[in-house]
Amino acid sequence: MPLPKAELHLHIEGTLEPELAFALAARNGVTLPYADTEALREAYRFEDLQSFLNLYYELMAVLRTEQDFTDLADAYLARAAAQGVRHAEIFFDPQAHLARGVAMGTVIEGLARALERSESAHGVSTQLIMCFLRDESAESAMETLHAAKPHLGRITGIGLDSAEVGHPPAKFREVYEAAAALGLRRVAHAGEEGPPSYITEALDVLGVERVDHGLRCLEDPALVERLVRERVPLTLCPLSNVRLRAVDVLAEHPLPAMMDAGLLCTVNSDDPAYFGGYVEDNYLVVGQALGLDPGRLRELARNSFLASFLEHDEERRARYLAEVDAYTFA
Ligand code: HPA
Ligand code: ZN
Repeated sequence: MPLPKAELHLHIEGTLEPELAFALAARNGVTLPYADTEALREAYRFEDLQSFLNLYYELMAVLRTEQDFTDLADAYLARAAAQGVRHAEIFFDPQAHLARGVAMGTVIEGLARALERSESAHGVSTQLIMCFLRDESAESAMETLHAAKPHLGRITGIGLDSAEVGHPPAKFREVYEAAAALGLRRVAHAGEEGPPSYITEALDVLGVERVDHGLRCLEDPALVERLVRERVPLTLCPLSNVRLRAVDVLAEHPLPAMMDAGLLCTVNSDDPAYFGGYVEDNYLVVGQALGLDPGRLRELARNSFLASFLEHDEERRARYLAEVDAYTFA
């Protein structure tokens, strides 16, 4: 049985496995420019974030109906449960679907149908975080927030993803202010490929409570000190970092140094269908390649629940933490 954990950095569209992509393509009469799942897997060799995003957006063409989004989320939740996930805070990218003529209601209600039954079906509690595409305009982000208003009961927070460099957080000041006024929690990708100053901006201008990736904080000792002092959680994704070449090889991932520095680190899968593993796979490889002992792995699992948006249900958080503490490693 894997270590109980929360997953806090997971793009639901990044869980689209080749088999499901082809099944949905057939169901919806969409032709994919790949002969079969094997040919598609061949395309999973990325140079950087953008080369991944190109394929990520291309494959979304198969997601058309509410049922498609339900099936996608159901498949993820089943896999997550098998990987020890007790709680998942799930990103989705509505603009990528709206642009293809898929309505906001189709996306959110489709996902929500799977999420509603997740606790009984998979033993996984869930939340939804709506991400804005930072390479689209601030106006488009604001329109997207307005389009989501009828569904706000389903959404815990907002995030910021897609191509980072050249799209600093400050571009989205107004939409983050509007979201805060609606009572939404705030996170943002920062410091994956972008500079440490983007992390500072995400904190100061957008008021984020968690930083997604945040890897490049290490280039700014004063920023590291601040993140430690303010206990800002970082949602790290080690396999993603290797596949998108943010780090050269897993053995050189700075996670141990980040933990030693006192940063509140969590380990997550990002886009597991594309990056070679789900969240427990990430825990296993960091355990092996970075020599993290069971005590450190337990610390990462504890951090995942401490960093999760469970303030409305502290009893649940305490229960999850007790499960982590009671866990015995094989
Ligand atoms: N980074 C930025 N945008 C993304 C990612 C990521 O790792 N995955 C999906 N959208
Ligand atoms: Zn991500």
